Amino acid sequence: MTYWMCENCSFVIENARPPEPCPGCKIKCAFMDVTCYTPDCGGIGTLDSKLVAHRVMKKEKPGKVVRFSDLIRGRTSEGKEKHIPFIEMAKGQGPGGKDLVEIEVGKQAPHPSTPEHYIVWVQAFGAKKDGQVLDLGRKVFRPGDGKPVYQFEIDSSQFKHLFSFAYCNQHGVWEQHLEL
Ligand SMILES: [Fe+2]
Repeated sequence: MTYWMCENCSFVIENARPPEPCPGCKIKCAFMDVTCYTPDCGGIGTLDSKLVAHRVMKKEKPGKVVRFSDLIRGRTSEGKEKHIPFIEMAKGQGPGGKDLVEIEVGKQAPHPSTPEHYIVWVQAFGAKKDGQVLDLGRKVFRPGDGKPVYQFEIDSSQFKHLFSFAYCNQHGVWEQHLEL
């Protein structure tokens, strides 16, 4: 079955043909085929996240500032199972006796690791109680490296929040957040 997204209101429907009128707008609208035909995306039966992101860009009104944060995907986005950089922390389990943080991409479903499609890097930030943001480093991966996992040690009592970002060369930047 094909997924259709309304060009006007972004309503998505699974149907053989685009609906008329649009169930969201109640008028005749142009529809875009957003079915994912790429096996890496999950194939037919899922939305193509690249097309959906393209739709978000197209929807912006002329002159409106598009922020990079508008393009970051998270736990409600299509393809989340393969892309969310999951953060876990084990108190006192670090090699130096501090707290061990592990960020893993593709915990629910493995992400591909081919030259055409792979996780390029994982980056972490920590926010202190006073709002100061600290760079907690980045790990870069190459195709064939296996599971994208980034581990590091922190003193978690210094932080209120941890943020992780992962970059897929096909599906953009993904984030997760952990409140400590
Ligand atoms: Fe991807």
